Amino acid sequence: MGERKPVGVVLSGASTQSAVCQVYEHAEKGKLREGMFLQIESQGKRKILGRVASIIPQNEFYLPGDAWTEARRKQWQVPTNLARQYELFEMELLGELPGLKEISIPPYAGDNVFEIDVSKAPEEIFGVKNPSPGVIWYGSLLGYRDAPIPLTIEGIPMHCAVFGVTGSGKSYDVGALIEKLVRIYSEENIQLSIPMLIIDANADYIDYFKYSQEKGSLGACPTVIRFVFPNSPELKTYPKNTRPIAINLNNLTLRDLAELIVQYYSGGEKNELQVAGIETLIQTMEARGDITHENYQQIFLDEDTFRAALRRLDELRKSDAIHSATAAAIYRGLNKFREIENRFNILSETPRIEGDFIDNLTDNRFIAILDFSADAAPGVPLSLKQLVISYISSILFQKFTDYKVKREERYMLFIIEEAQNYCPNLAVYNVGYSLAKEKLSLISTQGRKFGLSLCLISQRPSFIDPIVLSMCNTFFIHRISPEDVSFVKKVCGGLPKDLERRLTILERGEVIVTGQMSKVPFPVVINVPGREVEHTYGKTDVLKALRRLAK
Ligand SMILES: Nc1ncnc2c1ncn2[C@@H]1O[C@H](COP(=O)(O)OP(=O)(O)O)[C@@H](O)[C@H]1O
Ligand SMILES: [Mg+2]
Repeated sequence: MGERKPVGVVLSGASTQSAVCQVYEHAEKGKLREGMFLQIESQGKRKILGRVASIIPQNEFYLPGDAWTEARRKQWQVPTNLARQYELFEMELLGELPGLKEISIPPYAGDNVFEIDVSKAPEEIFGVKNPSPGVIWYGSLLGYRDAPIPLTIEGIPMHCAVFGVTGSGKSYDVGALIEKLVRIYSEENIQLSIPMLIIDANADYIDYFKYSQEKGSLGACPTVIRFVFPNSPELKTYPKNTRPIAINLNNLTLRDLAELIVQYYSGGEKNELQVAGIETLIQTMEARGDITHENYQQIFLDEDTFRAALRRLDELRKSDAIHSATAAAIYRGLNKFREIENRFNILSETPRIEGDFIDNLTDNRFIAILDFSADAAPGVPLSLKQLVISYISSILFQKFTDYKVKREERYMLFIIEEAQNYCPNLAVYNVGYSLAKEKLSLISTQGRKFGLSLCLISQRPSFIDPIVLSMCNTFFIHRISPEDVSFVKKVCGGLPKDLERRLTILERGEVIVTGQMSKVPFPVVINVPGREVEHTYGKTDVLKALRRLAK
């Protein structure tokens, strides 16, 4: 493998982490590039894989303040051809081949450095055959046309996160990953797919829905289902697999319901007195027979029951069981909460999203997309979206706890776009709703056997709850904003200097991959693979729209 002609030589003073090398004349002036992989053959035996971290051209007649300073100043010709001029490069040492084992002995001065064709020798480099069961070959190492890296699906349960500013290619990247995750190699002629639930903030994944409606499936995934709010006209497109976002409050614990009502009203703040007051109110209603046991839905669906609730609230206030200011807030809270039904019909619409839906999704390996985009959620405020995610996260947590108790191993990937809106770091980003956050942190802290895996996507990683993020073990990092650099470096466990420099200048479609899912034991930059299904919704066509308006 590789070309036999060396491109450089190791100089004195190498460590097990890095080596300074000199370029051979034939390889000077452009043959080596930063980020390129090279192989040192140490003492003719051991092979060490390294990456060019920097290239430093040298010329002894162009040193600051040297004897030629005055000549340069006058723009006289300096006799450059007499000077010692050469190129150095610094290599970051990555591992011993085959299989990228840890380097225990540094390379020696005089060791030759060779080019290595990373696309031709995946097995020798990564220690993984192509194909291998459960391994996805993804993208291509930056600077190489066809050098995909191996990602293992065994790393999925440890949660992953995708970062990058708007337009850096996160959704495109996740789409490309989805395309791989519905075609997981199992054995010859057998492909598998992993069930997924996607919170789609901007209709980035609806192309997959349409594709599956038209083609009948998406890889090994038999059906993609789309959920839209009941007031959306989109409910009528592909009606067979489009469903309303409808919930059943009876699936919640009384405490969770009380929190939802309070937070929906307050825009996020969780007033303990109000939460406790609502709990008392509903317990009283049950005790007096206003509602049947745990039929919370009835309060907001049935006008008489709702009026009974307000009456009971007044009684509780009069008997001092609930303080009058608290009662007044609860009164407003209940009225506001009714809006989720009166304006959006999310309680009365059927079928509702309940536990059996999760059984169905995981049994049949479906992909379900909760479409929160403007077309699918007309006029729906963020607080209602947060409420829906709180509800769904509760159900998911209950169901996966059940599976675990029953020892039914199931797996599902829960992809959340705009994750900062659902599990916010309230210290820096106060969009409220701790309930979704609490459920998502509960999910994130379960071990790998829990089977419910999060994939959090965000343009502002430092706005995500640090506990949830600390549970993520794989990172796909696109171009990020300078304010997020130190935060991202910390959560992903550090990056080598040359990658760190790139964080804010990565081009669209370039992504740093690091963590448990990657079989490469160090962070790498890759180009995201081209998608099979076109990404239409992310595109804008301002010119076309302006032309149309001008007509
Ligand atoms: N690797 C890529 N190859 C081709 N087009 C891409 C690539 N990455 C992103 N795009 C396109 O660039 C635009 C922005 O990408 P997108 O994934 O929506 O960014 P983000 O989700 O980070 O805001 C979209 O139109 C998308 O289709
Ligand atoms: Mg996006």
